[in-house]
Amino acid sequence: MHVLTILDHPDPSSFSGAVAKQFNAGALAAGHTVELADLHLEGFDPRWSMADINGEADGAIPADILAEQARIARADAVCFVFPLFWWGMPAMTKGWVDRVWSWGWAYDQLDDPDCSLQRPRTGVLLIPAGARSDEMEERGYAAAIETSWIDGTFGYFGFVQRHLHLLNGSTGSAERREGLLKDAYAAGYDLRSPADGEPKNQASAPPS
Ligand SMILES: Cc1cc2nc3c(=O)[nH]c(=O)nc-3n(C[C@H](O)[C@H](O)[C@H](O)COP(=O)(O)O)c2cc1C
Repeated sequence: MHVLTILDHPDPSSFSGAVAKQFNAGALAAGHTVELADLHLEGFDPRWSMADINGEADGAIPADILAEQARIARADAVCFVFPLFWWGMPAMTKGWVDRVWSWGWAYDQLDDPDCSLQRPRTGVLLIPAGARSDEMEERGYAAAIETSWIDGTFGYFGFVQRHLHLLNGSTGSAERREGLLKDAYAAGYDLRSPADGEPKNQASAPPS
């Protein structure tokens, strides 16, 4: 498969950067090809603008969006790597999702979250988070993330395989972080094809 990894972090030496590297290494070792979209390095502009609004109406899609959509079109699997910010996506990823996966290209209706204009793909979320997994479960944050991204968003993108990996304790001990990087490698190595026909929702969180 061809895998597109979307990295959202301004610091190439960050833990998130290391997670993306390990995921890609695992995917390569399994025989896949990978393409890294380093949104900060590439200077992607996450601001939704009048050009985006007009483009949806008259078909004059901004060139930066066409380039991102072409990358997605080449990919069989898309992996998002971003740190959890206020129990959600950082602004860069949010803007990339808002602008690139647009109405008329990714989906054309709002009433069926499992109906997309896109061909079936695998979607993976690898999310470093400072909080412990038990804290996130007790307070309902883990369920909220699964509901909004796995159930409520990935279907509109055509992701039939959906994998959520919350990398809890990302600011913890060196040993902890090493274990999380191994999980990221395994997520790349074990990547499922969209044709595998397994259940579409598969969340996993390593114990705190
Ligand atoms: C603005 C901001 C908001 C954050 N919000 C959360 C949060 O809601 N939940 C959480 O578990 N960690 C949160 N964190 C912690 C980061 O997810 C964590 O430190 C992560 O490892 C940062 O990625 P990095 O190590 O690649 O820099 C937040 C950090 C920042 C800077």
